[in-house]
Amino acid sequence: MHISQLTLSHFRSHKYTQLQVESGPVALFGSNGAGKTNLVEAISLLSPGKGIRKANTADLSRSPDNIGWKVNAEVVSGVSSNLIETSWETTSSRIVKINDKVVKQNDLAKVFRVVWLLPSMDRLWLEGADGRRKFLDRLTLSFFPKHADCVLNYEKAMRERNRLLKEKMTDGVWYKALERQMAQNGLLIQSNRSATLKKISSAQENSTTTFPIAELSLSKANGDLTTDEDEFVKALSENRHLDIMAGRTLIGPHRSDMEATYKEKGISAKDSSTGEQKAMLISIVLANARALKLELGHPPVILLDEISAHLDIDRRGALYEEINALGAQAWMTGTDRNLFSEFGCKAKYFHVIESSGISDIKEIDFSVD
Ligand SMILES: Nc1ncnc2c1ncn2[C@@H]1O[C@H](COP(=O)(O)OP(=O)(O)O)[C@@H](O)[C@H]1O
Ligand SMILES: [Mg+2]
Repeated sequence: MHISQLTLSHFRSHKYTQLQVESGPVALFGSNGAGKTNLVEAISLLSPGKGIRKANTADLSRSPDNIGWKVNAEVVSGVSSNLIETSWETTSSRIVKINDKVVKQNDLAKVFRVVWLLPSMDRLWLEGADGRRKFLDRLTLSFFPKHADCVLNYEKAMRERNRLLKEKMTDGVWYKALERQMAQNGLLIQSNRSATLKKISSAQENSTTTFPIAELSLSKANGDLTTDEDEFVKALSENRHLDIMAGRTLIGPHRSDMEATYKEKGISAKDSSTGEQKAMLISIVLANARALKLELGHPPVILLDEISAHLDIDRRGALYEEINALGAQAWMTGTDRNLFSEFGCKAKYFHVIESSGISDIKEIDFSVD
């Protein structure tokens, strides 16, 4: 899967940026603040959710114009292609179109599969479970496009249930339908997540990758409940009195956590070195791409913000080799063009420049110094 054409209009520092690309890697280089991450963020908005920065829709609107924004792309997947457009006009909510037809945001997952690694994820194994769950859900979504709907439905029911809990409602009648809905969607969330971990695990095992194998598991504490719907419902109803005291739902897949172990050493990710933690994340994302390629015939689009700067030369070489072997469209950012020189003519190079608060891009021919 790859983007063949991308246009950003009044999106953050980009007033009007258009680029044509091919299926291979894309290197975006330029000074700090030039608008590289903004471009990658625009791509992330072609999938469900708030994108890599979890930004509010209004914040994406180019200042000082503040007239709303638009991102559109042509996404090629095998022999088919789709036009995706996502936009916001100051008076409405965000609009998503696929082939000129207005669709739900979650429908994007069916036509665009993307995974990403960002500098902010460097502390993923050290910080709260929330970040790891979101990372896992992003991986899961790449395999199961309906996962976004399951999460949405689950959270919707949970919000309603939490409202009742806060009101200290004890009458079970009010909870029944909501807990059923949570159980139905919660089971799907759990099974999608664990199927994803299995796929990633076998893609790591069956590869000669130089990146370390991260053994992944879902922790059970308060998170994953039974695999039986009625038992799930029962667990929720039995926990109501505790939930009422807490004023929120304390058990269920919204509390799950993902754990990783550096397999070769048998050391938990949180106790591994910073470099090892990063290498594990890369390993997981590459395994995700390999597994998806095996399943669909093509890898997802991969967004790697500022990744190359923090890898030693051997790891960087290994990463680039794997991206080439996958044939993945990896969008990579970095301050220096030399960070990408190992790709040679296999990548497209764009110099991102900012002047007077407006980002601009120039395609650079690899052979030109
Ligand atoms: N809504 C906005 N309107 C105009 N400029 C913005 C907006 N949001 C962020 N910027 C500018 O975008 C720049 C950051 O771009 P970014 O893509 O993160 O840079 P980098 O090339 O270092 O990745 C900053 O200079 C910031 O001021
Ligand atoms: Mg950046």
